[in-house]
Amino acid sequence: MLTVAVLISGTGSNLRALLEAARHPDFPARVVVVGADREADGLAHAEEFGIPSFTVPWHEHDSREAWGEELGRQLAFWNPDLVVLSGLMRLLPPALVAEYSPRLLNTHPAFLPEFPGAHGVRDALAAGVSETGASVIVVDDGVDTGPILAQERVPILAGDTEHSLHERIKPVERRLLIDVVRAIATGELALTPTP
Ligand code: GAR
Repeated sequence: MLTVAVLISGTGSNLRALLEAARHPDFPARVVVVGADREADGLAHAEEFGIPSFTVPWHEHDSREAWGEELGRQLAFWNPDLVVLSGLMRLLPPALVAEYSPRLLNTHPAFLPEFPGAHGVRDALAAGVSETGASVIVVDDGVDTGPILAQERVPILAGDTEHSLHERIKPVERRLLIDVVRAIATGELALTPTP
């Protein structure tokens, strides 16, 4: 059984979808812990599903490295096979990326390499394109530059707002994330170290 740690910053709706998938006896992975960089609303999902959680508050640390060291200590305690950044709105320090990549995934609400960064949905709308997408990638040292494991296009509709578009992208992200975690757990998808 593949063990997964999920890190969040926000509402954790994608986390919730993974928790729901993972509670099925035939799903080959289990979420063993949920972590956050703040008192994120999404931690309530972990509590509801009886999954342990921890918070490493970004603002209580002097540097990205100090924050990452504490995050690394928390993760090490749970020793997960896979770490999923599911709406964690912080860049991990290189030392933590080096420790977990390629067993370190990120979901992103755009069709990478288009529109990387913290505002993928807003940037796609601002660009005036007719479609964007959702991606699941391996985290490397760049900002959303790692190998793409799964992605799918999502159309942008007339009158879309950042919220309405994001709400249409998220179900696609959830499906891709669950499929990728399942494929890693079964060995159908092999994670190879990034050069
Ligand atoms: C998701 O769309 C995720 O891909 C995005 O934050 C959202 C979290 O939603 N992450 C990024 O934009 C990272 N650059 P959720 O908290 O409802 O799951």
